[in-house]
Amino acid sequence: MTAKRIIVIGGTGFVGGHLVHRLAALGHRVSVLTRRPERHRDFRIGAKVQLLQVNPYDPARLAQVFVGHDCVVNLVGILNESGRSSFSRAHVDLPRSLVRGMRDAGVTRLLHMSALNADVNETHGRYLKTKGEGENLVHQSPGVEVTSFRPSVIFGPGDSFFRRFASLLRTVPGPLFPLACADARFAPVYVGDVVAAFLYALDHPASAGQRLDLCGPGEYSLGELVEFTAALIGRRTRVLGLPDLAARAQARIMGWLPGKPFTMDNYYSLQKDSVCSQSALAKMDIAPSSVEAMVPLYLGGAASRARYNDYRSRARRSS
Ligand SMILES: NC(=O)c1ccc[n+]([C@@H]2O[C@H](COP(=O)([O-])OP(=O)(O)OC[C@H]3O[C@@H](n4cnc5c(N)ncnc54)[C@H](OP(=O)(O)O)[C@@H]3O)[C@@H](O)[C@H]2O)c1
Repeated sequence: MTAKRIIVIGGTGFVGGHLVHRLAALGHRVSVLTRRPERHRDFRIGAKVQLLQVNPYDPARLAQVFVGHDCVVNLVGILNESGRSSFSRAHVDLPRSLVRGMRDAGVTRLLHMSALNADVNETHGRYLKTKGEGENLVHQSPGVEVTSFRPSVIFGPGDSFFRRFASLLRTVPGPLFPLACADARFAPVYVGDVVAAFLYALDHPASAGQRLDLCGPGEYSLGELVEFTAALIGRRTRVLGLPDLAARAQARIMGWLPGKPFTMDNYYSLQKDSVCSQSALAKMDIAPSSVEAMVPLYLGGAASRARYNDYRSRARRSS
């Protein structure tokens, strides 16, 4: 393997932390572009990684930074809009700025993070629609050799999915947890497998032009994943699925709360199952890790595996 010079945008987040660490461990030189380096003072992974403050919406500035690099990785994505950070700005304007910067710098290879179910024809959900627009934009950009990745929910150390539900569950006093869209289905994919897919694409230029759906080995309803989380943190909580009207009302109310824990756009995203008809991991010879094998290793402390086994045997006895 030849060491490459790689730019990562959105690399200071959950997936980026894992990917950048792995790229550096493999000997690549990585430049992580960030809007606010002061927020990521702990983000220093050895001499092969540099953190650069760059406005990713300025193609001329991007071109200056991109010169001499082999590949650009775009990991920018938002689940909720706030202030100037809108879905169309983060998911469409930014990829447009990236491909302009790449063209001017003479860099051709792009690894672009999209999302499963991203679709320009999505009628309600702005997250999925704009992710689809950004994905199409980069694939239709002349001179750019792009591979895009369309994962279901990603889990692993530092994820927001399991950690968020774990903290919510800790605040619920009773045995019942009211949950919107409890029947929505997911095929959670392990962050290490997502990173492996990016590395595969980096080493296989022939993957340019491909849009890769990434799913883990199991499919679960949101309710099942929340009860699994409860078991790991030692709570005997049962999910109470909310009827659709209540789910919408919850989204409208919670969308106004600080941090927007659940919004109408999140509600729309959950109307489509986030599962793959065929995950691309198999084609890349990546054996996906399961939720059951990995989540107990980082959530709920040392006792979590024992608690999970206890939960499984209780579930078996009651079925
Ligand atoms: N996590 C999942 O379950 C999941 C599932 C499917 C798809 N994805 C996609 O995978 C990618 C990475 O996800 P993640 O969970 O690692 O995200 P994350 O932790 O939120 O990190 C995203 C990074 O993007 C940058 N960013 C955020 N808002 C931005 C904006 N408005 N303009 C420019 N940069 C912005 C931030 O970097 P700075 O603040 O340093 O600039 C941030 O560190 C995203 O595209 C996401 O949509 C994630």
